[in-house]
Amino acid sequence: MRVLGIETSCDETGLAVVEEGQLIAQELATQGAMHSVFGGVVPELASREHLRVLDPLWQSLLQRTGLAPEDFDVVAVARGPGLLGSLLVGLGFAKGLALATGARLIGVNHLLGHLLAPGLERELCFPSLGVLVSGGHSQLYALNSPTEATMLGSTLDDAAGEAFDKLAKLLNLPYPGGKHIDELGALGVPDPELLPIPYVDNRNLDFSFSGLKTAAAQHIQRHPDLRLPAMPDVDEVTEIGRQRPELSRLCASFNHAVARALCIKAKRALERGPQARQLIVAGGVAANSAVRREMASLAQEMGVELVLPSLSLCTDNAAMVAYTGALFAEAGLGHDLDLEAVPRGRQ
Ligand code: KG4
Ligand code: ZN
Repeated sequence: MRVLGIETSCDETGLAVVEEGQLIAQELATQGAMHSVFGGVVPELASREHLRVLDPLWQSLLQRTGLAPEDFDVVAVARGPGLLGSLLVGLGFAKGLALATGARLIGVNHLLGHLLAPGLERELCFPSLGVLVSGGHSQLYALNSPTEATMLGSTLDDAAGEAFDKLAKLLNLPYPGGKHIDELGALGVPDPELLPIPYVDNRNLDFSFSGLKTAAAQHIQRHPDLRLPAMPDVDEVTEIGRQRPELSRLCASFNHAVARALCIKAKRALERGPQARQLIVAGGVAANSAVRREMASLAQEMGVELVLPSLSLCTDNAAMVAYTGALFAEAGLGHDLDLEAVPRGRQ
């Protein structure tokens, strides 16, 4: 079975081909630099950019693989959550292709795509605990099979990635800032007195990162020199960290606080069972080195296998959409052409 995956939910435009569970080829265009000027994603610009680049990416994919439009059995498209205008670009493309070629159409939940993406790299076992940490979401899932996911907890306010991006903005670092906070933090040592581990003194499985963001903002207000006078280029960030130990210390403390909060709640979910065979950590924030480190020691402590996607599979891509579409197609599922985008909430 050959599946085309289409991803246009936020600021990455992606196309990918998955065949018999293997990634054959993919195209990815990122809009990061375009939105960086505004310090965040501008929805109207994002959808226009998807519309502009999708066809050239499609032509390039066909050329590189030697495939024709009618060679796909399944067209899988991210239907949400995401920005409505952006999702509609991918959905329109997917429906047109499915209608023209007779391929089966499958709408994929973008978050489930993140969680199942590591299946492209290793075998996934169920039941498992999924930790989904991205720019828009921070959630825990009980995964009973690729098509059965129950949400156990979620963020009450900011998502983890959003908190990283907001701290980066306060420090005048380029958008999206998570990887820069990660990079700067790797040059410093966390100070447990500096920032709180947010929202862990309770018994639930939810997250809250706005208090951590406020604590970091207050620290920057007390130490205004932490804010960079001019926004650096992305390749200048490491050098800046070497020259500014206080900045690295703040970022290391922030990485640590987020990673600890995620691990404490993940541990709680693992303890409440049912016995998970794997701990899957996915989404853009799963690329964070402190999160990866802390999750590795949690998995060891709990005797559960850790599944971390490689860095390029953590952030948005179409390979995860194609792979999830393949699993749904194998389960006999599919959508009609009246498939709708679901920008938020349940799919
Ligand atoms: O999953 P993703 O690509 O898009 C969404 O579905 O939201 O996640 C993007 C988020 C951004 O907030 C970005 O700053 C964050 O993931 N991110 C990181 C790292 N790499 C990306 N956050 C912390 N450390 C990283 N290394
Ligand atoms: Zn995502």
